[in-house]
Amino acid sequence: MQALDQAEWAVADHPAANRFVMSFACGEAFAVYRRLDDVLTVSHTEVSSAFRGRGIGERLVEGVFRLAREHGQRIVPACGFVAAWAQRHPEFHDVLAARDGAVR
Ligand SMILES: CC(C)(COP(=O)(O)OP(=O)(O)OC[C@H]1O[C@@H](n2cnc3c(N)ncnc32)[C@H](O)[C@@H]1OP(=O)(O)O)[C@@H](O)C(=O)NCCC(=O)NCCS
Repeated sequence: MQALDQAEWAVADHPAANRFVMSFACGEAFAVYRRLDDVLTVSHTEVSSAFRGRGIGERLVEGVFRLAREHGQRIVPACGFVAAWAQRHPEFHDVLAARDGAVR
């Protein structure tokens, strides 16, 4: 299994493409969102197939939540993977919005 240099992993927002992207050697992970004011509905996450099951998706989602928090945005986890991650991370519940966009 190829070693991954975790120091390179940074999540960046690409608003023109409506996605957060985390690039790493030989691969990419991304989260697709829709933005309405300060609420981001994250509908899909994906990690390059060769790199799944190694914690990259979790790292991507954490980066997305950190960026959103930094920018005063809230997240609606419409993607099951993001919703499951959020359930396991109560320390990020301040970033969650309800599905209807109401801040909890
Ligand atoms: C879902 C996906 C982004 C996860 O990325 P990853 O790097 O493989 O995930 P991680 O290694 O960080 O985390 C794996 C954990 O998430 C869980 N998981 C994987 N897919 C999941 C899903 N769709 N919903 C909830 N949990 C999921 C795994 O069971 C695993 O948990 P465990 O460690 O307790 O066994 C990736 O598998 C992928 O791109 N899948 C295809 C696209 C897809 O189904 N996207 C999600 C729905 S939009």
